[in-house]
Amino acid sequence: MEMLFLSLLIFFVPLEGDTSPITCYNDQGEAVDWFYMYKLPKEHGRGSPEQEGDAYLLLDKGSEGWTEGKGTVNDTTGALGRTVGQLYSQGKNTEVAYILYNDQRPPEDLGDRWFDNSGSSCGHTKGVVLLDEKQGFWLVHSTPHFPPVQQAGEYYYPSSGLVNGQNFICVTYPLDRFQTIGEQLRINQPNVYDCSVPESLASLVPALAAVCEKKHLSSHIFPDVKTESNRSVTLTSKDGTNFINFAKGASFDNDLYHSWVAPTLQSDLLVQFWIRSTGVLPSNCSLGWKVLDITLLNPGQAFTFKTSQDHSKWAVSPEAANHRAGGGWVCVGDINRNEAEEKRGGGTVCLQDPVVWKAYRTAALECEACEGRTIQC
Ligand SMILES: *[C@@H]1O[C@H](CO)[C@@H](O)[C@H](O)[C@H]1NC(C)=O
Ligand SMILES: *[C@@H]1O[C@H](CO)[C@@H](O)[C@H](O)[C@H]1NC(C)=O
Ligand SMILES: *[C@@H]1O[C@H](CO)[C@@H](O)[C@H](O)[C@H]1NC(C)=O
Repeated sequence: MEMLFLSLLIFFVPLEGDTSPITCYNDQGEAVDWFYMYKLPKEHGRGSPEQEGDAYLLLDKGSEGWTEGKGTVNDTTGALGRTVGQLYSQGKNTEVAYILYNDQRPPEDLGDRWFDNSGSSCGHTKGVVLLDEKQGFWLVHSTPHFPPVQQAGEYYYPSSGLVNGQNFICVTYPLDRFQTIGEQLRINQPNVYDCSVPESLASLVPALAAVCEKKHLSSHIFPDVKTESNRSVTLTSKDGTNFINFAKGASFDNDLYHSWVAPTLQSDLLVQFWIRSTGVLPSNCSLGWKVLDITLLNPGQAFTFKTSQDHSKWAVSPEAANHRAGGGWVCVGDINRNEAEEKRGGGTVCLQDPVVWKAYRTAALECEACEGRTIQC
């Protein structure tokens, strides 16, 4: 009897590899509904050779806060490497669709020259969409030149993304959500540098197929969204978590956070973004909500750094959800607060979850008040 039970057990252990559905993974190699990842900046003033800027914090569904990453951000067995790595392990599997987009694509190796065709007219938006006929993930992030094209054959993290802080949000969605994701991407006007949507999937998610074919300007494919310069939608993850996705195009021509996200969520916001650019927008309290620029950070109490070392783009409510109706939000995305990006596509993914909120809220130490002085935020 015991033998029979054992052999049955062995028989029913699910096969690894090709048969596993596409999903976000955590550092333990377990399929997860979602994770947040904070790639920490290179720590200045510490002589340790380990501090190369490849350390990260991870928060996946069910954890109690930030956890130190198991290895480096470049490891193929970490959460990011295992998740994005599914793109390369699929090989020529025709049942898998993917879209890689980034306003700063990975450099192309043209013989002995490296060519970086960064576009400034397309959306300021970065991400990875990967799915099979059942489900997949949408990873939204801030890292330039990431990830490598499928032809590269394996996952790696670009060395250009090591110095500064970066953020990632991965969510696992069932197949039917990817039509809506395709419509949001179409509004974002992404710079798609590698993609494939096989025929078997194109009929199920035509909006994604169109983004891949760069037909995103032909409105007959998107009769419902043809004139929209922005749209927010609720995207429910595979296991039932509701995320709100805000997508804007170039014609939106306004700051994402103070003109749209804060009034929609009915919440003040503390915003982390890349300040080493021209035309940075100061904190703005004019539309009834305080939208403050973060100046000093310490996620996970790892170490303290300035916003000038952090390329992440995220926003957090200053108050918890139970304080006022609109508190407790965290948004992670790809748009900075500057004049040029008012006229660029991009967006953010928001969630109201007490653990995620605490993880990001405690990361914000100092902010710029609306009168311009630095305050504790
Ligand atoms: C990432 O790992 C690959 C393979 O081990 C290595 O060649 C590359 O230099 C690493 N890159 C970084 C940025 O650590
Ligand atoms: C677009 O953004 C404006 C705020 O600028 C907002 O009032 C409006 O509801 C948004 N449109 C959609 C479709 O979400
Ligand atoms: C704050 O936002 C309002 C409304 O969008 C805008 O008119 C104003 O110029 C902004 N103020 C600053 C200091 O950027």
